[in-house]
Amino acid sequence: MSADINATNPMLEIRDIKRDYHVPGGFLKPSKVVQAVKGVSFSLEKGKTLAIVGESGCGKSTLARILTFIDEPTAGELLIDGQKVDTRPGHLTAEMRQKVQIVFQNPYGSLNPRQKIGDVLGEPLLINTKMSAAERRERATEMLVKVGLGPEHYNRYPHMFSGGQRQRIAIARALMLNPKLLVLDEPVSALDLSVQAQVLNLLADLQDEFGLTYVFISHDLSVVKYIADEVMVMYFGEAVEYGSRDAVFSDPQHEYTRTLFAATPRADVESIRARMAKRKLALAAG
Ligand SMILES: Nc1ncnc2c1ncn2[C@@H]1O[C@H](COP(=O)(O)OP(=O)(O)OP(=O)(O)O)[C@@H](O)[C@H]1O
Ligand SMILES: [Mg+2]
Repeated sequence: MSADINATNPMLEIRDIKRDYHVPGGFLKPSKVVQAVKGVSFSLEKGKTLAIVGESGCGKSTLARILTFIDEPTAGELLIDGQKVDTRPGHLTAEMRQKVQIVFQNPYGSLNPRQKIGDVLGEPLLINTKMSAAERRERATEMLVKVGLGPEHYNRYPHMFSGGQRQRIAIARALMLNPKLLVLDEPVSALDLSVQAQVLNLLADLQDEFGLTYVFISHDLSVVKYIADEVMVMYFGEAVEYGSRDAVFSDPQHEYTRTLFAATPRADVESIRARMAKRKLALAAG
């Protein structure tokens, strides 16, 4: 689908990205090609949030992996901060790698149970910078505070945290190298509604503070409505809808989007809004 939004100062631009997976056959089973992403294009302005929504298996995570260089596209172009990215293995620059980070749905899976949180946060610095142990510690402590945790959490292990806190840790780790683009693959889907609202609130604050650009993947339209500037709806590997949040929500063009919207309970949006408003009031009251 052609883009109807043209970012003037894009952080991220993708052109006709495709990803095929070759699935080997077995006994009496021919091998086949799965076209997980079938030519997706968009451009995303700096500091904005693009939400990608669609049902299970439509290619959202595949696209997320391509945007974060975990996977290579079969075809198409990827431009980050105006620079064309050479996605071939071994060709990616360290600078490019630092600019883009990913946050997954289940941070527990990516946290080493034997590693203290301070070390979890310090690791990207240890690998990518020449910072001393003291500098790493200072930066990790600072980041814990930024994501709503505290210095006292530095020496604790992942199992000592709630799901929401673990997601804060994953966000903190993603931010350690000062990235510009964060790809968030269902970052709040596994959390309770009230915790979802808190983490979404945190993400909004961090976006403002650091001028971050977000690609936010979700299957939950109420969350999308809350956080997105722009929305892309994927269906079987294709972008069937792409536009500003208000345009997509008020006037969906594709039959699939209309079906998707019809199936979403409005109560979720309302309750998230109400909780956020309540929290803001509580904060204002001190
Ligand atoms: N490594 C792989 N090998 C073969 N097929 C794959 C591979 N990764 C993904 N696929 C297929 O590509 C399609 C898209 O998968 P993807 O994980 O991107 O979907 P998704 O939109 O993230 O789904 P969900 O909402 O369930 O997370 C699916 O049909 C999936 O089975
Ligand atoms: Mg997925």
